[in-house]
Amino acid sequence: MAKPTVFVTRRLPNALLQPLKDAVHLHMWEEELEPVPRETLLEAAAAADGLLTMLSDRIDRALIERAPRLKVVANLAVGFDNIDLAACEERGVIVCNTPDVLTETTADLTFALLMATARRLIEAADYVKNGQWKEWGPYLLAGKDIHHQTIGIFGMGRIGAAVAKRAKGFDMDVIYHNRSRNEKAEKELGARYVGFDELLETADYVVSLLPLTEETRGLFGRAAFKKMKKDAIFINAGRGAVVDEDALYEALVQGEIAAAGLDVFQREPIGKDHPLLKLKQVVALPHIGSASVATRTKMIELCRENLLNVLVRGQSPLTPVTASR
Ligand code: DGY
Repeated sequence: MAKPTVFVTRRLPNALLQPLKDAVHLHMWEEELEPVPRETLLEAAAAADGLLTMLSDRIDRALIERAPRLKVVANLAVGFDNIDLAACEERGVIVCNTPDVLTETTADLTFALLMATARRLIEAADYVKNGQWKEWGPYLLAGKDIHHQTIGIFGMGRIGAAVAKRAKGFDMDVIYHNRSRNEKAEKELGARYVGFDELLETADYVVSLLPLTEETRGLFGRAAFKKMKKDAIFINAGRGAVVDEDALYEALVQGEIAAAGLDVFQREPIGKDHPLLKLKQVVALPHIGSASVATRTKMIELCRENLLNVLVRGQSPLTPVTASR
């Protein structure tokens, strides 16, 4: 049987891909920080049996329809809003993601972002580095307490529960909103289910870990920010497009909320002239939720095993988002 062909859309460590290289014809876009151009991706997909993709690659219907041999797309992320699932299902293309292996690391980053925003860590570090620190002052760079505050988590899946676990360590009250109740988090972490409005009105920290879907797009808009406490801090480590960024900017400038910590944006990378980046009460990160060396390694290995299972071993993928027909 002829070896299958796999295209990897970003430079990844050879050592991690070796078992895949041994079993398939492997082609790779050799840049680490530059996305594969659309035309190159379309051309490569047209000849591929499998793709190892990044969350920044658009795997849409046009691509799927031009890829007659494609059997599996392994996405290096837990989110898969960059992939047209319906088009994949129609064509029997299996889509895989990387759940579980990134849960704790992404929760670490979410909580670190919350802490950095609350205690103004980036501002404070810049203050020292820029030589502005001339004297100690009673309210110099004073921030907001984290312990014994209320955290409102929207999106109580695996990562939400891991964030709640960290919050419990800070004696926080945990409330949450989700499509469905998470009884495990309620029982084990004392998380209390509330409606969206109650979450917005009650939480000192509103944390979004939402995936991007038709229901969640733009959910945090003008009305939502208006309902939050004036000293509330908004954290987003899910997907950027669940936020209307103009509304967020307005809410921050009008003092309707106190600050925002953002790891994700409507459009990534966010341009350096974006108004949100001009605000000192905004902490902005370049979508690094799962970016520890150990976790990225596990994610790459999981993608590799999913591709090998489907294309070489004739087995089911380990972490499918959609099944083959
Ligand atoms: C993902 O993998 O989807 C998350 O955005 C982690 O950064």
